[in-house]
Amino acid sequence: MSRFKHEFVEKNLGWLSILMIIAVSIGGLVEITPLLFQNQTNEPIKGLQPYTALELEGRDIYMREGCNNCHSQMIRPFRAETERYGHYSLAGEHVWEFPHLWGSKRTGPDLARVGDRYSDEWHHVHLMNPRNVVPESNMPAFPWLAENKLTGEYTAKKMEVMRTLGVPYEDKDIAGAKEAVQGKTEMEALIAYLQSLGTTLQQADK
Ligand code: HEC
Repeated sequence: MSRFKHEFVEKNLGWLSILMIIAVSIGGLVEITPLLFQNQTNEPIKGLQPYTALELEGRDIYMREGCNNCHSQMIRPFRAETERYGHYSLAGEHVWEFPHLWGSKRTGPDLARVGDRYSDEWHHVHLMNPRNVVPESNMPAFPWLAENKLTGEYTAKKMEVMRTLGVPYEDKDIAGAKEAVQGKTEMEALIAYLQSLGTTLQQADK
């Protein structure tokens, strides 16, 4: 019967689409479902802290400025990467990231463990004009970050939303959020965020 020949499927777009969706769904479910039940992928690593109010604002600036278009935050378990960037990334380091910023493009280096690697001053100079510290850099300058000030208007709200997603913020963190960021520059927030990246595991190693 021609109906059950491969040719029939290949020449009928409707059937081809339906069968493709079924095949891909089964493949996807087999890969994804077990991860939802594995502690290793769901549980925070020891000592992990949610972002402070200032770091959380810094993270939003990181996304707004599109830093993630040039920088990944995911160290793969290959020697070339671990020698350069440090311990490979663990799922448990990222359980409270909404959305995650693993990225897929590395015009610049991976930033998953950039926290504590440079001083705050270095980051300030670098973000004002990367060429002042790395002459061959093609990273854009972000001088407006030093002028723009945070109002903190939505900080508490953002933390509440994060809490509904499972980030363990306490009432006092949320209550003090506005005060913690108000009047600080976007530069300060972004640097606070950068300095926090990947540090939990580094401390656990020590
Ligand atoms: C157009 C691509 C591009 C964008 C956008 C970009 N960067 Fe970069 N970044 C680079 C390149 C290339 C380097 C390597 C040269 C250097 O250090 O300046 C770099 C280096 C860095 C470094 C030093 C990393 C290390 O380990 O030495 C940090 C930190 C950094 N960028 C942060 C940021 C932040 C924060 C933003 C967003 C505000 C950003 N970058 C946006 C391309 C980019």
